Amino acid sequence: MLNFTFHNPTQIFFGEDQIAAIAKEIPADAKILVTYGGGSIKTNGVYEQVSNALKEHNWIEFSGIEPNPQYDTLMKAVEVVKTEQITYLLAVGGGSVVDGTKFIAAAARFEGDEPWDILAKHAQVEDAVPLSCVLTLPATGSESNIGSVVTRGTTKLAFMSPHVRPIFAVLDPKVTLSLSERQVANGVVDAFVHTMEQYLTFPVNAKVQDRFSEGLLMNLIEEGPKALATPDDLDVRSNVMWSATMALNGLIGAGVPQDWSTHMIGHELTGQYGMDHARTLAIILPAVMKVQREQKRGKLIQYAQRVWHLFDGTEDEVIDQAIAKTEVFFKAMGMPVRLSDEDLDAASVETVLAQLELHGMTALGEHGDMTPEVSRNVLETAL
Ligand code: NZQ
Ligand code: ZN
Repeated sequence: MLNFTFHNPTQIFFGEDQIAAIAKEIPADAKILVTYGGGSIKTNGVYEQVSNALKEHNWIEFSGIEPNPQYDTLMKAVEVVKTEQITYLLAVGGGSVVDGTKFIAAAARFEGDEPWDILAKHAQVEDAVPLSCVLTLPATGSESNIGSVVTRGTTKLAFMSPHVRPIFAVLDPKVTLSLSERQVANGVVDAFVHTMEQYLTFPVNAKVQDRFSEGLLMNLIEEGPKALATPDDLDVRSNVMWSATMALNGLIGAGVPQDWSTHMIGHELTGQYGMDHARTLAIILPAVMKVQREQKRGKLIQYAQRVWHLFDGTEDEVIDQAIAKTEVFFKAMGMPVRLSDEDLDAASVETVLAQLELHGMTALGEHGDMTPEVSRNVLETAL
């Protein structure tokens, strides 16, 4: 196991009607900006629950944060934070609203030239407006992690800072019942791939992390299709929601090598073609498993045996079956598994490669050995 420091102080309020808890968690003298997206919270009762909980507080709102939150929109919120002297941000929505609010929090206190540098030049985030969230879409883990992904035009970049980790996160599985089938599926697959990016590398004898990861993968394989087949089942939603948080809250990634190449290539596909985040991952991950098969051999066999219970055949046959089963699972979740499923052809390979090089993504993977040539191989395998 590698050395690590683990610290995740986000307080989780999990379960039905937990939104009411925010009343006593946000300081009474705070000037709050409630941020949200395109309005789903206005039709599923979440806005009303938040308003009720905040009735004794001083708050205003900022709406219109898009899926894949756009820099220009977020900078409008930064202006509001400054002019209204906001002291606390409450994000109410999915990963995009939470990520966008993390950026607003950091940008409002940024003292460098331009807040875009936080993303484009990894400018240090020294401070941020305190923030918390009410999560409405289980997927990203953003509700208790330090990451944020922001888009400017066709460029999608991430930053990380402990200053933007939510102080608390409300996770009420009931509010996920209004999600479309597509968003439910996206969430399950995103959480699955987060787990894989921290698990499917090379063995370092990290038994706790490995077995936690395998448990999360098995839960998502089991509960994901149920969330589509029986969409009113709150037990299923609860298990999906907690799995997604645990998949990217730092726990399973502590002390192990990490990959993230699927995400980096996927971000370029979203930036260029507007594809949903999870759909890009379902296309790229199987191709990474095929192309990086030798580097990942030990973990691929472990994955095949422990997650899919595949023991018959040679090592290579077992690996092939595990990759095939992963694709079958993604398809059962309504995902594309090839670029051609999204009507993309060989021209997209060149476009994505050019963007990866532009963004310095030329040494990806757990060994840093995914050069542009290897990424080309991945993209061509995914055609
Ligand atoms: O905008 P509204 O009206 O709220 O609608 C949203 C949006 O259209 C809707 N939605 C959310 N909760 C709902 C709901 N509709 C009905 N009922 C509800 N309860 O769902 C749509 C998609 O929302 P979005 O927030 O974009 O989805 P998701 O949570 O999948 O977030 C995706 C973003 O997170 C980033 C992705 O790159 C992408 O930009 N990621 C962030 C990560 C992190 N911070 O650690 C890691 C991830 O790998 C990922 O990259
Ligand atoms: Zn993701």
